[in-house]
Amino acid sequence: MPGYDDLIEDVASSILSSKHTVALTGAGISVESGIAPFRGKGGLWERYDPEEYAHIATFMQNPARAWVLFKEMIEVIRRAKPNPAHLALARLEELGLLSCIITQNVDNLHQSAGSRNVIEFHGNIINLSCIECGKKQRCSEVSLDEIPPLCACGGVLRPDAVLFGEAIPFDALVSSRKEAEACDLMLVIGTSGIVQPAASMPLVAKDSGAKVVEINPEETPITFIADIFVKGGAGRVLSDIIRRVEDKLR
Ligand code: OAD
Repeated sequence: MPGYDDLIEDVASSILSSKHTVALTGAGISVESGIAPFRGKGGLWERYDPEEYAHIATFMQNPARAWVLFKEMIEVIRRAKPNPAHLALARLEELGLLSCIITQNVDNLHQSAGSRNVIEFHGNIINLSCIECGKKQRCSEVSLDEIPPLCACGGVLRPDAVLFGEAIPFDALVSSRKEAEACDLMLVIGTSGIVQPAASMPLVAKDSGAKVVEINPEETPITFIADIFVKGGAGRVLSDIIRRVEDKLR
């Protein structure tokens, strides 16, 4: 069994020899920024039933209830800063070693870390839209003292995040699939790998001949197709990987 250092060496070499690396990230990459994941101990779905709080049908029936969850998420995200894992991915892109990030996260932390090519697979919670007139507003410009927040036209505002029962934004789906088919290395970081269609991207990459590297403190349904599984938190593991990559480039 290779040890931790051997795995880091292997991932760093894979990144340096790859022509097209893509990262798929999930809530786990933002845990060290203080944002709770959805599943597992301390996850949001322990306290909020997603069908009740995050489904488009229940949002339309009772937006004030859904906004209890959105408001909590927005307040946590407003205070959060990118952690070493986000920064490592931004550095890889800057070095020309990462083509794009497909993220399921709605927290904008990859962009705050400096990543430019980010596909927001589940939209984001930073922008709000009016369900009546469609007008978009930055979340930071809207008071959440009273929920649901309303547009000037009187319509209810909603986050531009994908709710249960809604389709993935078409452009995000098409470009993610293209990236998954084209890459020769996919880094799968901090996702439970159970929410479709995001969870199928590593399979698409693998079927197209890519190497799959997974970084997670726990095994997931993706682990069995991973060529390399690095068990651990994204902050430490990605910091070690970027350090090794930069050492090799010297
Ligand atoms: P989950 O909450 O399902 O899974 C989080 C994953 O992060 C788990 O596999 C954890 O083991 C892992 N994890 C925890 N701490 C970590 C750390 N420090 N470093 C790395 N990994 C860590 O989150 P997602 O897979 O992103 O969808 O969930 C997918 C989708 O389900 C979300 O985008 C959201 C949710 O319902 C929508 O809102 C549409």
